[in-house]
Amino acid sequence: MVLCQGDPKGSPFFVKNKTITFTNTYVCTYIVKTFKMKKILAFGTSNSKSSINQKLATWSANQVDNVEVTILDINDYEMPIFSVDREQETGIPEKAIEFKKLIEESDGLILSFAEYNGSFTSAFKNIFDWISRVSKPIWSNKPTLLMATSPGPRGGLTVLSSAEKTFPYQGADVVGTFCLPSFNSNFSVEEGITNDELRQSFLEVLGSFESKVHRLEEAV
Ligand SMILES: Cc1cc2nc3c(=O)[nH]c(=O)nc-3n(C[C@H](O)[C@H](O)[C@H](O)COP(=O)(O)O)c2cc1C
Repeated sequence: MVLCQGDPKGSPFFVKNKTITFTNTYVCTYIVKTFKMKKILAFGTSNSKSSINQKLATWSANQVDNVEVTILDINDYEMPIFSVDREQETGIPEKAIEFKKLIEESDGLILSFAEYNGSFTSAFKNIFDWISRVSKPIWSNKPTLLMATSPGPRGGLTVLSSAEKTFPYQGADVVGTFCLPSFNSNFSVEEGITNDELRQSFLEVLGSFESKVHRLEEAV
């Protein structure tokens, strides 16, 4: 994007991949920014076909302004259970490399955790372990929104709290967390989060995430 500083008309216009500096009667310097749509990668950490966390992650990602959203289904990344022996024998599966590439190519991550027995689902943990062998930092320092929901009143808070503590050490730039309790009473696919108070809290966290994702656009 080219912004004219000092031009009385002051109207921005677009030039791709060009740096223009010129002087006219207004001694006008043009600043060039190439606008690239920011990319959000979002997924629920469950392999259930009717995953409520997938629904929450999908809806949440679609609330972020001016971004390209990719919703990932972790079923597409099913791999043999990680073991150091298997890694030595057959190497890192292509699917893990693909998954990691999607992370690297994104400008922000939204994960919604399904809680199984107070922890990650084994489907997600397996992917996590494999991608940790591709390259570090695991989450590529991306702005990250961590969420969780469950049908119960705690909404998966145990797994969310655990991820909130550990993800920053695993290369995620955790911008915020949000836990949605009692999913079936507080969410509808058409309207998203239906409880006013919870929706407000969510929008505050989402606002921080959105600003972080778009932050680079503000720099010249
Ligand atoms: C093996 C198993 C363990 C579970 N453990 C928990 C738990 O510790 N805490 C919780 O809130 N819900 C637990 N649940 C219920 C899940 O929160 C519920 O199935 C939820 O729908 C999972 O998210 P998903 O729909 O995105 O897969 C468990 C469910 C299963 C199948």
